[in-house]
Amino acid sequence: MRKPIVAANWKMNKLKEDVREFVQDFKRKLPHGVLGRVDVVICPSVAHLALFSHEGLLPVGVAAGAQDSHWEDKGAYTGCVSAAMLKDLKVRYAIIGHSERRQHFSESNAMLAGKLRASLRSGLAPIFCVGERLEARDGGQTMNVLGEQMAALSDTPAELLGDPTQLVLAYEPVWAIGTGKVATVEQAQEAHAFLRRQLSTLRGEAWAQDVRILYGGSVTPENFGALIKCPDVDGGLVGGASLEVDKFVKLIEIAAQGA
Ligand code: 13P
Repeated sequence: MRKPIVAANWKMNKLKEDVREFVQDFKRKLPHGVLGRVDVVICPSVAHLALFSHEGLLPVGVAAGAQDSHWEDKGAYTGCVSAAMLKDLKVRYAIIGHSERRQHFSESNAMLAGKLRASLRSGLAPIFCVGERLEARDGGQTMNVLGEQMAALSDTPAELLGDPTQLVLAYEPVWAIGTGKVATVEQAQEAHAFLRRQLSTLRGEAWAQDVRILYGGSVTPENFGALIKCPDVDGGLVGGASLEVDKFVKLIEIAAQGA
């Protein structure tokens, strides 16, 4: 039985006071007991991660995540943040390979393979994102694209992939991100089942069964209930809807009911 994850990706949004207000309101509205049934992760801008660790802002049971993490522990990489630095701030997860980083920062599969290795080496659980663009979907190339993106994982040494709960995948079709156009349950389940088969080839069926695979792309409280019922959908990586406390709490409740 995989414990669902609801992860907020706040991208480049919110200022310091907005973060404080969100968390205070979130603490008040989060129903008692749901955190035992759902893993909740908030990935704010890197500028605000220290608020979570220094001010102890997050409720117990809610983990901090970063939106990116570098492939080296330290060095001459202006503007970058390493997995070791994030661990030092008590960050538990790092999104790796988000399509916005692939697109706007030209992150290649080789770079992402390095980021995955560094993150796992440091004990930071990667949320590794894969997803096809609209042209690939329309051209019947979805599984080929996902297969190529998953190759970054096959470069990861087996000893770093021991604990399946330390790796999270996110299927985020690029055409669904921020567009209001969500994947159908059939499209999501087909892609998630494909990703699980890839994981199984990598490390065996039992291991693959314990890896959580999240869906991301225009998730809302209205569409999440159906998605989370898919056998291979283990939660959501949420952008827009996670910026609002009421919607984020609702998504967590839906995941808790589906669990
Ligand atoms: P939206 O939920 O805003 O579509 O964003 C999805 C996403 O990119 C999460 O990483």
